[in-house]
Amino acid sequence: MRISIVDHPLAQARLTLMRDERSENAAFRAAASDLGTMLIYEASRDLPLEHFPTQTPVAVADGARLKQPPIIVPIIRAGLSMIEPALSMIPDAQVGFIGMARNEETHEPVPYLEALPEDLSGQPVFIVDPMLATGGSLLHSIQLLVDRGATDITAVCMVSAQPGVDALANSGLPVKLVTAVIDPGLDDNSYIVPGLGDAGDRMYGPRNIDL
Ligand code: PRP
Ligand code: URA
Repeated sequence: MRISIVDHPLAQARLTLMRDERSENAAFRAAASDLGTMLIYEASRDLPLEHFPTQTPVAVADGARLKQPPIIVPIIRAGLSMIEPALSMIPDAQVGFIGMARNEETHEPVPYLEALPEDLSGQPVFIVDPMLATGGSLLHSIQLLVDRGATDITAVCMVSAQPGVDALANSGLPVKLVTAVIDPGLDDNSYIVPGLGDAGDRMYGPRNIDL
């Protein structure tokens, strides 16, 4: 599996703000928005371009635009924070949604929403979720994309844990990973260590759906 780690100083500074337990919801969301933009920038590096002549006030230049914008697929809730950063960089991208939350006792992902196009064949997909912990949520979501024919899938995560990265790499699923960091492990509640805590709660407050 191809892995890109975005270790740019500005990305690492935003990541540190997100890790800091003193960052309240608004500061956390602001840092996540900036970091999300940087990760999407990196994830887009290999998107194919189409070229066309562009008339400048002086002469004709080689113009370029994305041949096919990726579809952005956030995993709700925490992934919602990455929609605006993605659309600010790729304004004509479509957006699909997957609703999934971990059961707090078993740590298994529980799907509750799937709003995706029927056919994703030939369509690049950016699946966005700030946290990759055990990998359960991402693996389940990627399988939904593969079942719809997707073969060009990039997972864009802010904090990844080594066990989740290994699970993704060993799955054989067609996915690349773009992340700001790979943390070493998980605690007894499958939280990333050192991580940043519960990303959804830190963005939006405690979750109150019963799974
Ligand atoms: C978080 C996170 C991922 C998942 C990662 O969501 O946003 O989706 O956990 O954990 P995993 O790799 O072990 O599956 P959570 O289940 O807390 O839901 P929320 O975003 O609604 O808070
Ligand atoms: N989900 C989170 O939001 N944080 C973790 O550390 C693990 C899963």
